[in-house]
Amino acid sequence: MSNPKKNIENIRIDYDKSKIDFNSIHTSPFNLFNSWMTQAFQSDKENANAFVLSTISNEIAPSSRVVLMRGFSEKGLVFYTNYNSQKSTEIMSNNNVSANFFWPQLEKQIRIIGNAEKISKEESDKYFNSRPLESKIGAIISNQSSTISLDHNFEKEKEKLQSQSNSYSPKRPENWGGFIIKINHFEFWQGRPSRLHDRLCYTLENNKWVISRKSP
Ligand SMILES: Cc1cc2nc3c(=O)[nH]c(=O)nc-3n(C[C@H](O)[C@H](O)[C@H](O)COP(=O)(O)O)c2cc1C
Repeated sequence: MSNPKKNIENIRIDYDKSKIDFNSIHTSPFNLFNSWMTQAFQSDKENANAFVLSTISNEIAPSSRVVLMRGFSEKGLVFYTNYNSQKSTEIMSNNNVSANFFWPQLEKQIRIIGNAEKISKEESDKYFNSRPLESKIGAIISNQSSTISLDHNFEKEKEKLQSQSNSYSPKRPENWGGFIIKINHFEFWQGRPSRLHDRLCYTLENNKWVISRKSP
């Protein structure tokens, strides 16, 4: 393989796949979000819903990781996780979060800022019950983000639960469930030639979406 250190200096993509028509824009960011998400699914149905979620610690240190969006509506974006994980602990003490979708094949990025809140137990139950058995077992046996021994073996716990699961279906653990990100800011970014990218923003002010454009 060629030297990546050398390559990264020389890779140049002149983005030109699409553009934002600033003369004809959606008044609701959710319509545009839906339209871009539809294109993302058409071009890559397996990864379109993956986004980078950033949270902040008590020491105001940011932390980012990928999670999967499992639902979206005008109410917000839903993802599922362990409520004892680092991200959840941080959200519970400061629920300001950001979400970032990047679809390189479309040369599109969406930046989101919002507030994360736990969804209802009933909604989490419904989603948990719809998951395959392996995923349910994974959620039960992983105390996500806790430090474990290097030789920790999940296989035994998995096998034990799998054998019990022949007679009963595992229930959602209390410490596993969904969050909804209630959005107050969107930025839609479309790559353009000569680094003169299009950036369209929607900010919620007094319950209204205020539209603006940013310099690339
Ligand atoms: C493609 C992809 C999808 C992921 N989806 C989720 C998810 O939906 N929920 C989740 O808790 N972790 C998901 N993860 C794992 C997280 O990135 C992360 O490792 C985990 O949630 C622990 O993060 P934390 O310790 O900061 O809480 C995913 C990772 C990748 C790469």
